Amino acid sequence: MKYSLFAFAFCLVFASMSFSQDTDMNIIPKPQSVTSASGTFTLSNKTKILAISDASRKFGVILNAFLKRNYGFELQTTSKPQGKNIIQFAVLEQEGFVGGALDGYVLKVAPDLIQISGRDRGVFYGLQSLFQLLPMTFDKEVKISAGEINDQPRFPYRGMHLDVGRHFMPVEFVKKYIDLMSQYKFNYFHWHLTEDQGWRIEIKKYPKLTEIGSKRPETMKEKNFTPYVGDGVPHEGFYTQEQIRDVVAYAKARYITVIPEIELPGHSSAALAAYPEFGCKQDYKYKVQTTWGIFKEVYCPTEKTFGFLEDVLTEVIGLFPDSPYIHIGGDEVLKDMWKDSSEVKELMTRENLKDVTEVQSYFIRRMEKFIHSKGKTVIGWDEILEGGLAPNAIVMSWRGIKGGIEAAKAHHDVIMTPTDSVYFDFGQGDPAYEPINIGNYVSLEKVYNFDPVPKELNADEAKYILGGQANIWTEYMQTPEKVEYMAFPRMLALSEAVWSKPDDKNFADFSKRLVSRFAQLDKQNVNYRIPEPLDMTNKVLGEGEKADLHLEPPIPGSRVFYTIDGSTPDEKSTPYTKPLQIDVPDNGRVDVKSVVMLSSGRKSSVYAATLLRKTWHNPEPEPKDKRPGATYGLAFTRADGAIKSIVSGESKVFGVQQFARVYDLKQPFGVNFDGYINIPADGIYEFQVESTWDAAIYVGGEKLVDSAGIKDRSIHAEVIPLKAGLHKISFWYNSHGGEPFWRVRWAIKGQQWRNVGGGELFH
Ligand code: ACM
Repeated sequence: MKYSLFAFAFCLVFASMSFSQDTDMNIIPKPQSVTSASGTFTLSNKTKILAISDASRKFGVILNAFLKRNYGFELQTTSKPQGKNIIQFAVLEQEGFVGGALDGYVLKVAPDLIQISGRDRGVFYGLQSLFQLLPMTFDKEVKISAGEINDQPRFPYRGMHLDVGRHFMPVEFVKKYIDLMSQYKFNYFHWHLTEDQGWRIEIKKYPKLTEIGSKRPETMKEKNFTPYVGDGVPHEGFYTQEQIRDVVAYAKARYITVIPEIELPGHSSAALAAYPEFGCKQDYKYKVQTTWGIFKEVYCPTEKTFGFLEDVLTEVIGLFPDSPYIHIGGDEVLKDMWKDSSEVKELMTRENLKDVTEVQSYFIRRMEKFIHSKGKTVIGWDEILEGGLAPNAIVMSWRGIKGGIEAAKAHHDVIMTPTDSVYFDFGQGDPAYEPINIGNYVSLEKVYNFDPVPKELNADEAKYILGGQANIWTEYMQTPEKVEYMAFPRMLALSEAVWSKPDDKNFADFSKRLVSRFAQLDKQNVNYRIPEPLDMTNKVLGEGEKADLHLEPPIPGSRVFYTIDGSTPDEKSTPYTKPLQIDVPDNGRVDVKSVVMLSSGRKSSVYAATLLRKTWHNPEPEPKDKRPGATYGLAFTRADGAIKSIVSGESKVFGVQQFARVYDLKQPFGVNFDGYINIPADGIYEFQVESTWDAAIYVGGEKLVDSAGIKDRSIHAEVIPLKAGLHKISFWYNSHGGEPFWRVRWAIKGQQWRNVGGGELFH
């Protein structure tokens, strides 16, 4: 009580000053309210920490650890509220100080006092904000501008996920990840501990889970699915229960709750390799998988299996005492093995389940009931909606936001993790230059603009959205460094999406604040993706216009090297010293490529921008008749002139195989495709054909790509500026006989390729 009164009096003194908006407080996530005052507080080794209770002394310890690590000194702690140069922690007992928010805090900087007040975890967040106000290094003293930050999060759930199943990540890295999360005010760490490719948590009652399930003989090389090529390097790793407890305690000290995920009934190959008796096929050779995807090896819904899973979950629940949640997966369950199982047939009769989807629902409901009986709430991926949602389950919506909307409307809590905004395994730059990743494209800006609350929900329904989370699946991340590359700086963009007021969000402002954060990430040895220089963007030039490019180094102390002749730049290329004026010939194109070199010597990926002087293509009106074969379709012409139309709304891609059913493809034939492509935004688009023999692509009636007369398989591509909307696309392919092959793809220039086919039309 004493402290809150003190804080209140302090507040009155402050309120009498007139504050102006401060733009120098480069804090991420952006606080709810920042005001500045005149004067500065001087921090030096003479500053004292005022901490009266044990609750506040704890924060003095955290502050001193930070100061020691970064500047090599610690402050004295006193319990006497006097002196002119003090940092005070006021841990408030009552609600109501910051709108009652559990995570809220007030950080005040006055010439003779820095005060952080809030309820326990709020003070921790206030301290994180204070840390961001301090420079990376200083000699003797630093001055901090006076002002006040009044802050609280938008959402109670601010999560980051990490898949350690595909690639095991050492405890030291998991702790680093948790440290970094806490700096940006995340409060849930979703630890994905079991997968087809590895079981990573020690379970005392079932030692083979780790003896067998945590090891695989090798891993697929890059993307060599078919034919499969392995790397021949064994991969293994798991966390002992002692290590798990250590990580949980480490996270707790940083106000992060660790949520374990034990996948069921799918993604369970590793567990079944250890204990095949919990699968439906007894004579089957289950194995820890060495490649990626969705596998048919799933748990069999027998009493024996439920007993096993309950034993496992009992140990797991004991290891995560502070987590109110247990995640049980539920995604991507193939039901082939259930369909063939007499035990599943019996279960369906006994429980009156009409199909295997209801079997999945039964499975989840049973596990939910068990976990609920232990006082915990279940989280599952949005597939748990199928066949009926378990009564108390929280839905983690990943296949877009649809599942989340459905669950919120049904008054279930929801955590939003849609692929297209927050899947950090997706690429973040030009796939031609980025390190290998799972594909697709989620830019920093896309993450920044993520709003966990869909427009489809009314205010009442929106209350069921607990928050958002980014997922990091590690198929293509073999090392902690690669995880860091994929997570940063996107994690910082997400922190703002789940903490800050949506009306305050502004990507340009965020990007400015981000610059000061890179120095800290460098100091922490984080392998973040170095951002591209400002004008590394595609551009269509108007008549007489020259490109005026600013490629200033995106991080203080870094250097930029570039080329404009299409070659790949390195540190021997031209260094950037002043804005470039680039002329592009009529109907022509210039490709600018750059690379950034940090003062540490670390080099960025290559960035490319296409400058184009070409006429924009406007969209066409939507055709009235969308029946297959009416205004769009695919026609197959045999050498004898017979025409066969093959159009399928279901098929995403038309491939050679579909024609092989009707014709001997060793004979000459032709294919004509007419359709529309839905262009999402104005910009430069690239079309590509890979083929043997003759192929051409037309966009808006203009022949764009032509590869006539080339017998061997080759790739041809061209760019075109398109306005958003529907555009006509046609292509033809003529095989002169032999091995036919064609593939037509399109992309926003520099982003992920998409195949052209029926399913891509009228998106
Ligand atoms: C998921 O990405 N399969 C949840």
